[in-house]
Amino acid sequence: MTIKTLRKAVFPVAGLGTRFLPATKATPKEMLPVVDRPLIQYAVDEAIEAGIEQLIFVTGRNKSSIEDHFDIAFELETTMKERGKSLEVLSQTRLKPGAVAYVRQQEPLGLGHAVWCARDIVGDEPFAIFLADELMIGKPGCMKAMVEAYEKVGGNVVCGLEVPDSETDKYGIIDPGARDGALVEVKGLVEKPKAGTAPSNIMIPGRYILQPEVMRILETQGKGAGGEIQLTDAMAQMIGKQPFHAFTFAGKRYDCGDKAGYIHANMALALEHPEIADKLRAAGEALFAKG
Ligand code: G1P
Repeated sequence: MTIKTLRKAVFPVAGLGTRFLPATKATPKEMLPVVDRPLIQYAVDEAIEAGIEQLIFVTGRNKSSIEDHFDIAFELETTMKERGKSLEVLSQTRLKPGAVAYVRQQEPLGLGHAVWCARDIVGDEPFAIFLADELMIGKPGCMKAMVEAYEKVGGNVVCGLEVPDSETDKYGIIDPGARDGALVEVKGLVEKPKAGTAPSNIMIPGRYILQPEVMRILETQGKGAGGEIQLTDAMAQMIGKQPFHAFTFAGKRYDCGDKAGYIHANMALALEHPEIADKLRAAGEALFAKG
């Protein structure tokens, strides 16, 4: 088996972000900041750390601020330079010319459909998928660690993490087989299983390395859970035909698709931020003391 190098990543960012309204009425949820970086920036940084060379955003209407974020802001940069301010703070927003492509998902038909919209840009090679509202923090980052595992086993590798049983109906869930260190074989996959029917409590927190065959499957994939075309259903069809593993990430995960998870991420990362950690720790202690 030849293992092809992973070079491309898809970022589905066309979602409506209804859980964060009214904040997300005119601002994409992927642009919500955790401390001082928008969520999408964390995902892009994780991709670049993992060696990804081409970033493909699947966008929709009202998402142009994501494109602007990864572009040169001429007036801003000129004014900053005139005022003698360093542009270093913008360095992560600078992507290599030609390294980013945008394609639109015209209708919200589901994650599987969003990924399929990127098929021609992905072409015939393995690709990663990042769901930016899942914030993965660690050294090495989640995708870098997944790539290292992928380079050994090939095929398809998704991240898989344990959640409380009460939460399995919110996610794509793995039916696990034999475990070998951080890798576990995937025997089955089910999207948002009804309470009491989940094959395990291992969920997929929005990080995937998939073979291009999944695009052919998505071509004809019918609707699944929630009446949407589900990526999980298409992936399930590859089990048994190609190697399929779940990788246990050793870092932290914050579900920023949820208000509590998003605020938790802000609290946790703020307490690690050298400029503000001390102030916030004092403020937090005062707040918690009041009860
Ligand atoms: C999506 C996927 C699901 C995955 C989850 C991670 O669900 O369909 O398999 O576990 O993201 O957050 P969504 O959150 O879009 O309902």
